[in-house]
Amino acid sequence: MGRGKDRGSRVEHRLDLDLANMSKAAAKAELARLAQVLAQADKAYYQEDAPLLSDAAYDALRQRNRDIEAAFPDLVRSDSLERKVGAAPAEGFGKIAHMEPMLSLSNAFADKDVEDFINRLRRYLNMGGDDALECTAEPKIDGLSLSLRYEEGRLVHAATRGDGVVGENVSENARTIDDIPLRLAGWLQPLEIRGEVYMRYEDFTALNAHQAQRGGKTFANPRNAAAGSLRQLDARITASRPLRFFAHGWAGDGLASTGIAATQAEAMEQLAALGFAVNPLLCLCADLEAMLAHYRSVEAQRASLGYDIDGVVYKVNRLDLQKRLGFRTNTPRWAMAHKFPAERAWTQLSRIDIQVGRTGALSPVARLLPVTVGGVSVSNATLHNEDYIAGRDSKGGRIRQGKDIREGDWVQVCRAGDVIPKVVDVDLSRRLAGTAPFVFPARCPECGSEALRESGDAVHRCAGGMGCPAQAVERLRHFVSGKAFDIEGLGAKQIEMFYNDSVLPIRTPADIFALAQRDAQNPAKLQDRKGWGAQSAGNLFAAIEARRRIPLGRLLFSLGIRHVGEAAAKLIAQHYGQWDRLMAAMDGACGLEGSQWQDLLGIDGVGEVMARSLVRAFAQPAERRSIEALIAHLEILAPAVRSVAIDSPLQGQSVVFTGTLAQMTRAEAKSRAEALGARVLGSISARTDLVVAGPGAGAKAQKAAALGVRVIDEAAWLALAAPL
Ligand code: IVH
Repeated sequence: MGRGKDRGSRVEHRLDLDLANMSKAAAKAELARLAQVLAQADKAYYQEDAPLLSDAAYDALRQRNRDIEAAFPDLVRSDSLERKVGAAPAEGFGKIAHMEPMLSLSNAFADKDVEDFINRLRRYLNMGGDDALECTAEPKIDGLSLSLRYEEGRLVHAATRGDGVVGENVSENARTIDDIPLRLAGWLQPLEIRGEVYMRYEDFTALNAHQAQRGGKTFANPRNAAAGSLRQLDARITASRPLRFFAHGWAGDGLASTGIAATQAEAMEQLAALGFAVNPLLCLCADLEAMLAHYRSVEAQRASLGYDIDGVVYKVNRLDLQKRLGFRTNTPRWAMAHKFPAERAWTQLSRIDIQVGRTGALSPVARLLPVTVGGVSVSNATLHNEDYIAGRDSKGGRIRQGKDIREGDWVQVCRAGDVIPKVVDVDLSRRLAGTAPFVFPARCPECGSEALRESGDAVHRCAGGMGCPAQAVERLRHFVSGKAFDIEGLGAKQIEMFYNDSVLPIRTPADIFALAQRDAQNPAKLQDRKGWGAQSAGNLFAAIEARRRIPLGRLLFSLGIRHVGEAAAKLIAQHYGQWDRLMAAMDGACGLEGSQWQDLLGIDGVGEVMARSLVRAFAQPAERRSIEALIAHLEILAPAVRSVAIDSPLQGQSVVFTGTLAQMTRAEAKSRAEALGARVLGSISARTDLVVAGPGAGAKAQKAAALGVRVIDEAAWLALAAPL
């Protein structure tokens, strides 16, 4: 233990040392007694700051507990401290795959966005204007999401969001939160509850005061404090922190599986009955007006709630409709977050710097006198581009009444949630004499190459390509980042260090995977350098090794190709399935015409700009060499089949919808087909397996017939796609 604080010696505990002759009953009794004494000691040590035991006495009891548990493994108690905290792996938390991904919410900022949301839902569901479409509305808690897994009525594990698919195992930490029930009375089916861990203001202030007094770490805001407190390897520290939890949903069919709830509102009532804390401001709204009214009401109460919220979440009330609406790649169609307006503050702009991004874009950044905006200190903000600084929009129209932004100006900064703060206004009355308009540099500040601005593009780009060190470093930083290769111990700082290293340089992604081998061949070893040792060098090589196996979508995203974000990379990976197929398709599409090009454009979510950028990246010789050198080091994993259906007749089929459908909208038909494992394309080719033609299908149906592709009508489609 040795935590430097004496646990005192007011509690005596007699150790029964003769384990070999110990009866099972005696072992059981002693484990119970130890559990009680240790729990008391922990509570006194962590929560009351008044130790009951000396460190040595405490350690001896823990050891005794371990010894008895080792001798009688079937007597290990569910509340055993060894289970609780000792088991946490030293290098971090274990991983847990979520039963269903933990997604984000699409955002609305204006009332009109909410109206569009409702209209979109009505169209998708083919609803008339008079059909009721009730939604729930509840605060969006500014905390961190947590997933709780219950089996046979017991909490079996808890996981953070992680990358949405796999989260960190924080089970023991979650068990210490009072709002989280450890058992569910009368509920035995598997259940995964989703909700938000947060901290109330008063608890946050007290925690920070306590931390400051002890010379410990203080937190910038309640959200950080909640995150820092939940992600503790020692769950007893979590136990000492005032964390709370609101349940707001579930994975899969959840409570609907037993028919106990047919609506979101009923399900939330059931959750409350099972012992979860449910937000008291949850309200059922009959229509758009009621939703917006509740939004205003929650906004008016925001300051007096005692905890941070950043908007209101609307959810379609009927669970059968939620199911029909389903999910996009990252967000449910049946829910939306209506965010509160961003917070603003005035400060002075000391300097405008130019940053070079991984695609060569030159981004002007405002360096500010630090100012607190919505509880967070801000000292950098984006200025977008040359036009924005000059007071023009992309079409030459005036913004900020045409006021330009200059170094030395007093500017207004706006910050919304986690989005990068931006400069939104200038106070001309405080402009200093002798300042001049900002002149955008004509050359890249990093490599001196020309900074070109193509017509129709608002952005200046460095023409240096991978020869520009800033671009190369940014691409490598992206490559190793969390949503890309996520290599532990190889962060932005280390990339910069290795990039400039003369002995063991990393200039391309392939260099990373050859690092251990290059180091082995080198007389000057990494482990002998200042700041490194055998262990840290070994850890780095092992972390790199662990990432040689990578899913196709992640790999594609990691390449940092312009316009190809995380969601698009996943879609493209789903479409092609294998690296070789992807490469062959890129080569086939490089003329920006022909069937491969059409096939690429047919992927829902891939537009022409993205497709061009993708094809161009693979066609550039230097880029291609770099990619191929990387691939040689990797084992690429095919994307998991997204379908939930096992024996679907549509599995792997290419389907095209054409003409009008009467029973369901095109969008619903498409997502139903995808859920059944089909790929839905926009145009017909010889490789199309099935065309669903409604009335008015015209030329497409003829083309299908000419190509010998199977064509069916809507009734046949409904029979095929009937819910399993
Ligand atoms: S519903 C499929 N309801 O916001 C996701 N989320 O931006 C459905 N959040 O990660 C989420 N309060 O953790 C929902 N009342 C609320 C929420 C809420 C906070 C978080 C949630 C999610 C994030 C999405």
